[in-house]
Amino acid sequence: MEIINGFSKMPKDKKIQWLSDQQDLDLNFIKDFWHESAEKQKVFDEFSENTITNFFFPYGLAPNFSINNKIYTVPLVIEESSVVAAASKSAKFWLDRGGFKAKVISTIKKGQVHFLWQGGETKKLFDFFQLKKTELILSVKDLVLNMEKRGGGIKDIFIIDKTKSLENYYQLDVQFETCDAMGANFINSVLEALGQKITELALEYDGFHRAEKNIEVIMCILSNYTPECLVKAYVECPIDELGQFADGMSAQDFARRFERATKIAKIDVNRAVTHNKGIFNGIDAVILATGNDFRAIEACGHAYAARDGQYRGLSSCSLSNGNFYFELTIPLALGTVGGLTKLHPMAKVTLDILENPSAEDLMKIVACVGLAQNFGAVRSLVTTGIQKGHMKMHLLNILNQLGASESDICEAKEVFKTQTVSFSSVRSFLESKRNLQ
Ligand code: MEV
Repeated sequence: MEIINGFSKMPKDKKIQWLSDQQDLDLNFIKDFWHESAEKQKVFDEFSENTITNFFFPYGLAPNFSINNKIYTVPLVIEESSVVAAASKSAKFWLDRGGFKAKVISTIKKGQVHFLWQGGETKKLFDFFQLKKTELILSVKDLVLNMEKRGGGIKDIFIIDKTKSLENYYQLDVQFETCDAMGANFINSVLEALGQKITELALEYDGFHRAEKNIEVIMCILSNYTPECLVKAYVECPIDELGQFADGMSAQDFARRFERATKIAKIDVNRAVTHNKGIFNGIDAVILATGNDFRAIEACGHAYAARDGQYRGLSSCSLSNGNFYFELTIPLALGTVGGLTKLHPMAKVTLDILENPSAEDLMKIVACVGLAQNFGAVRSLVTTGIQKGHMKMHLLNILNQLGASESDICEAKEVFKTQTVSFSSVRSFLESKRNLQ
């Protein structure tokens, strides 16, 4: 591969041509994935840089989600087979048992001005901060005005001494309410202005000696760790109403096995990561469909799962007084205005399908889908095992990969109702069919 200068300035065609030449690949076909309308394609191209084409993911629907007694059809963007099917199946299961319930516990987002102060006597810095706090907040009034009109803004600012962990290191820890916006740009703009202002205030402050006047701001940035932007989703019903499971497993046995599986995820990191991955199968898929930032949500969720020092499963199950109770409490800093939510045409469709939820409503929906996904996965694991359903869904992928015809697919679906699906068993099936022809 050659080094190239000025790549970002090249038109898309040229970029593709350059890459094809470099690697001796015929990449012309990737233009088939361009939107036929140049104007619409431009919207996608401009989301990112050096765009050469689009990468499609399936956009599916999980209907019958009853959330706080309202029925939703939830769009999911995901490439993994079984996820939409599992979400739909769990939604239907709980529809007949009272549905999902969800409530937002808190909506605070945070950011920090990370700075160094070499004054030595921490109390002096803290006194300075207390004296100047109001002035500091007032200095960003223009930036927060619009957010305040919508009911949000800065909720509080704290100063934190971090010098035990890193020499001379302090933080301004700023709490925000950003209403229906995820608010990243708003938060970062305010933090940068606060960083600038505190530096100026320190320079002017009479209470500091010369050597104490220098506050060195290292960086100003929101934190994607939002444990105070928290939502809880749960389902519950009498154990006896859970029904019968595969191979005659009773509701009592199912509940006991399910509760044990959830406990195992609480104490064993190997299981916890996979358990939580199942939760994020659902959560990421809805978040992607709404144009929210799934990396931020994942990073935060995993940090939250390790908040007591050990990484644990995020959901909990309890069985008491004959009742099955299953819940997920998770931080979800989401937005329904701003960012990609209105710019991406499909994100807009998703929000329309979800009846234009507020950020709090979206938090509830997403948490319920995460819980549904987790219920579906653990249910399979403690009953039939995961492979039965999973491989049935995966069968089509394998058949397509092996170039099966429509009639092969029809026949294979019948045959593999009773046979174990694996890549080699499907290949043998196709080979034996072709040998017969
Ligand atoms: C697969 O994508 C997700 C599961 O492994 C989750 C789980 O084990 O709970 C099925």
